[in-house]
Amino acid sequence: MPSIHWTGKHLATPKPALLTIDSIVHPNGFGYPKAEPTGRLFLGDNLSIMAALLPEYEGSINLIYADPPFFTNRKFNARIGRGEDSRKPDEWEIADGYHDDWQDLDEYLDFLYQRLALMYRLLAPNGTLYLHLDWHADAYARLILDELFGADKFLNEIIWAYHGPSPIRSAFNRKHDTILSYFKGKDYTFNADAVREPYNQNTVNTFKSSRKAGFGKIPDLDRGKVPEDWWYFPVVARLHNERTGYPTQKPNALLERIVLASSNPGDLVADFFCGSGTTPLIAAKHGRKFIACDENLRAIYTARNRLVELPKVFNIEHDKSFKISYSILPKSIKVNLKKDLISLDTKLDLDYWEVDPAWNGKTFKSAIQAKRPVRSGNLPHELKIKIGSNVCIRFVTIKGRKYQLNV
Ligand SMILES: C[S@@+](CC[C@H](N)C(=O)[O-])C[C@H]1O[C@@H](n2cnc3c(N)ncnc32)[C@H](O)[C@@H]1O
Repeated sequence: MPSIHWTGKHLATPKPALLTIDSIVHPNGFGYPKAEPTGRLFLGDNLSIMAALLPEYEGSINLIYADPPFFTNRKFNARIGRGEDSRKPDEWEIADGYHDDWQDLDEYLDFLYQRLALMYRLLAPNGTLYLHLDWHADAYARLILDELFGADKFLNEIIWAYHGPSPIRSAFNRKHDTILSYFKGKDYTFNADAVREPYNQNTVNTFKSSRKAGFGKIPDLDRGKVPEDWWYFPVVARLHNERTGYPTQKPNALLERIVLASSNPGDLVADFFCGSGTTPLIAAKHGRKFIACDENLRAIYTARNRLVELPKVFNIEHDKSFKISYSILPKSIKVNLKKDLISLDTKLDLDYWEVDPAWNGKTFKSAIQAKRPVRSGNLPHELKIKIGSNVCIRFVTIKGRKYQLNV
């Protein structure tokens, strides 16, 4: 078999992260305070997070979707605050997103190799890995996956095609990504019926006019077909209701197809490069448990903002070296507490605030959340909740500043 080599290729034993819980989030009081979390959202370098998860999860994750930086050698900005609606670009505010720059290809491939090797160990025997890349590195990654999984465990090379503006004048516009999928064992999950789609109208018309069109094979037109390995979904820049402002966010429909095909309700789905949280959102929506991770706090907060739409309890945890610190409340935020109403008086540009009405002084259990609407509109300045004698309120500004008030 051909194999791939680069300078410095090696598999190290990574140092496990020291995991700490930042908060347990009960969207709109769902199950507060007792319900068990069905999801874990981690802030930290996925290498040390995965190493820390190995003792508990080795061989037990049913589906891993990985959407790492693509080796573009670019820096991606985020759009924050009001005006994420892409039809009003003058209202966008630009902030740091994430970096995809590397010394050289060797460094990038080693980064990928170390992480894919851990994902392989975490996968369940019936598990599948989907690796999302594009022309920059997909050919090299195919050889890495052949090495880690075995070339005979190759499942699909999926082409995700889309439209969009491009400055290229000297080649065809590069408008597809490549998603490589590999299974661990031959009993891998693939739910063909869960992802069927209607036949193309031309096919329906052809079979209606002539039963012989399929050379003796007559498709079940009502049941629909299993999709081909090339997919068209519009990019998120065109999906105004999904767009969070986090860079390179993937469409919900794309993750929906992967999650439905390659996992079952109750399964565990993981994404260690989760960005805006598309995978955990879709996994939770379809009754799967999730593990998601990103090293960028803006990503974790974006994912959290999306996840609070669903009645599913989840943890936010972090590696101790990625401390999430809260400053004391500035004078520019005034809080009024009544028996079952908390109201704010502030002109500060807040993105989110949440309340633990019975804080135990250790773990923050978020029982109610106020967040800025995805499209446009104002953050609610009032939350109704019965409060006890110990209350803790946390605030995050659109720039990512964090404050905490203990009463
Ligand atoms: C292509 S984006 C993922 C986008 C995501 N699929 C979505 O739908 O929003 C890649 C993400 O990987 C994260 N990342 C890069 N290196 C990482 C590392 N070592 N550990 C954890 N996250 C990392 C970046 O911060 C970025 O959010």
